[in-house]
Amino acid sequence: MKRNIKGNVNWIGYIDWELDSFHGDDYSISNGSSQNAYLIEEEKTVLIDTVWLPHRFEFIENLEAEIDLEKIDYIVVNHGEVDHSGALVPLMDKIPNTPIYCTANAVKSLEGQYGRRGWNFRVVKTGDSVDIGNGKKLIFIEMRMLHWPDSMATYMTGENILFSNDAFGQHYAVEELFNDKADPFLLMREAMKYYANILNPFSPLVSKKIQEIVGLNLPIDIIAPSHGAIWRDNPLQIVEKYAEWAKAYQENQVTVVYDTMWDGTAKIAHEIARKISIHYSDTIVKVYNISKSDKNEVMTEIFKSKAIALGSPTVGNSVLSSVAGWVEFMRQLKFRNKKAAVFGCYGWSGESVKILKEKVSEAGFEVVGESVRAQWNPNADDLAAVPALVAALIGASV
Ligand code: FEO
Repeated sequence: MKRNIKGNVNWIGYIDWELDSFHGDDYSISNGSSQNAYLIEEEKTVLIDTVWLPHRFEFIENLEAEIDLEKIDYIVVNHGEVDHSGALVPLMDKIPNTPIYCTANAVKSLEGQYGRRGWNFRVVKTGDSVDIGNGKKLIFIEMRMLHWPDSMATYMTGENILFSNDAFGQHYAVEELFNDKADPFLLMREAMKYYANILNPFSPLVSKKIQEIVGLNLPIDIIAPSHGAIWRDNPLQIVEKYAEWAKAYQENQVTVVYDTMWDGTAKIAHEIARKISIHYSDTIVKVYNISKSDKNEVMTEIFKSKAIALGSPTVGNSVLSSVAGWVEFMRQLKFRNKKAAVFGCYGWSGESVKILKEKVSEAGFEVVGESVRAQWNPNADDLAAVPALVAALIGASV
């Protein structure tokens, strides 16, 4: 059923309370999600985006219950990823000549995923627009690499709605649709998790794009993303957050991440946390065993941190696979302006700390302090090295 957003604009998406992972299993979903599509019924009828493939038939049934599909004058595809374009094939089978407004890269992604079907693409660039009647128009804004090369946003004049697609979204189910109905803590936590795990690599582009959007001087009453809550109460609050997050964001936090075989490396991890909490009580410290933790939630904590301590025992002349895989994920996210120190136990060859240093350095972290490296179980002499490592992470003298 369509639900009113403002004026003649309605939401017609899918609220996905059952979803528990996204991008395969690469992004954990803790509070549901949604795929938001929008139906504009001015003199022209416009559909903005669709839903994910598994929900395509239900989406089309819902759409048909609201309007005669033949009445759709234009379809806007802000982004070709399957969670928004998943219903296009059965929809276009029913209305094959309907113009699809999208970027040149979206044509590539749609044809790449669904084949060349002879769809009536109208390729648009930033500043292009289309009249939709009643004195209103849609203006297109390319959002290249936010987060795909094909991404764009669509701005509706008259109602002053920015359909931002993935940008400003969250994987968060809000049955009432709007940000003022959402749990404020969960809303911002999920928005931050989305930014940290998906958008952070593109932060320099986020900063530029925000300046560009602000420079357009368009009044914005509503920001309607393609996932999660629609921002109608103080919609610019999320733009301000993005501007802050894009500038190598950090809080006064240190996060300790490790895995362990026989608890020696765990012992060092907790000693690091204990020393921080005792000697630097203004600093928040959190500890995660990465093999037992949600990697996306931990990555959100890394996003908030000014420094990390990373530990692994030596195994197979290297580090545990849980740590290696997680550091590779962290490298992809291109964090900036953060420090890292490393630690780990070993029985025989003891390469883990050297390898960890290389890995965090490749991930863009400034490696600081002497590593804490202990043979067999850490003894008092080994743990005596912890205060210096902690001081280096905090940026204080011992
Ligand atoms: Fe929500 Fe990039 O798809």
